[in-house]
Amino acid sequence: MKRDFTKLLDISTDECLSLMERAKELKKMRKEGMEHQPLKGRYLAMIFEKASTRTRISFEVGMRDLGGHAVLLNKGDTQIGRGEPIQDTARVLSRYCNAIMIRTYGQDVVDELAKWSSVPVINGLTDLYHPCQILSDLFTIWEIKGDVRDLKIVYIGDGNNVANSWIEASILLGFKFSIATPKGYEPLPYLLDKAEKSGIKLFNDPFEAVKDADVINTDVWVSMGQEKEQEARRRAFTSYRIDEGLLRAAREDVIVLHCLPAHRGEEITGDVFERFQDVIFTQAENRLHVQKALLEWLILNK
Ligand code: CP
Ligand code: NVA
Repeated sequence: MKRDFTKLLDISTDECLSLMERAKELKKMRKEGMEHQPLKGRYLAMIFEKASTRTRISFEVGMRDLGGHAVLLNKGDTQIGRGEPIQDTARVLSRYCNAIMIRTYGQDVVDELAKWSSVPVINGLTDLYHPCQILSDLFTIWEIKGDVRDLKIVYIGDGNNVANSWIEASILLGFKFSIATPKGYEPLPYLLDKAEKSGIKLFNDPFEAVKDADVINTDVWVSMGQEKEQEARRRAFTSYRIDEGLLRAAREDVIVLHCLPAHRGEEITGDVFERFQDVIFTQAENRLHVQKALLEWLILNK
């Protein structure tokens, strides 16, 4: 049976750990210049209804590395933009391609695509989740700090798609996870309820949240599609900026993650960004390696 990756909880804990292991092998093989092309003659359709740099490039390069091809479908250039139903698009693309990656607004669109497609569907970001990003973040933490299950991870900022996928990661892997958001910008209550058993802690005070943190994550205050709320959001999030003062409240060896694009002077200061630039750009690079592991697993079904 085909598998999809519409959210982190589509995979089991063991599958997540295997993907990390495989990403490590694939990264090493690429660094050593070893050719590995198990996806020769396979195609990935990439649907983008929102902008992207990293997701677009890492999936395209990843498919090529594995011997396959990626085909780009921008919403405006396709019949999707003129209202062709997702259920028909799903069945058409399944006849040409071996997997579909989609970046869109509603999670319901991804779920519908997965329901009607006979090939694996990968969520490249929705308003609700960003699972490929968090897979890459987990792998990055593993490389730098070791087993994420022994660490305290903290997320500061908007209770958005990135935060929601972090909550799912904490359910999947059971690490200590705290999140600090302004009132009114918390992640969805049903996700918080689901995560209660895994010991997630929700704060409004970022200083309380980062106590003993090994890893601090943040993301933009204004996500794609929220441009009209820009001013209100900037006001609400002012005290949720990752700066040196906040870092002093965490562990001395804390690292900072940012999924990018970053807005220096908003969610992170320029100084903190530059201090952790190597971690942050490794996180971006690792999108390639973990997604190759994901593509290989989903397309070859093993
Ligand atoms: N982090 C991330 O998904 O980047 P893009 O929006 O550039 O794809
Ligand atoms: N939360 C951000 C993530 C960008 C990669 C957004 O949805 O725009």
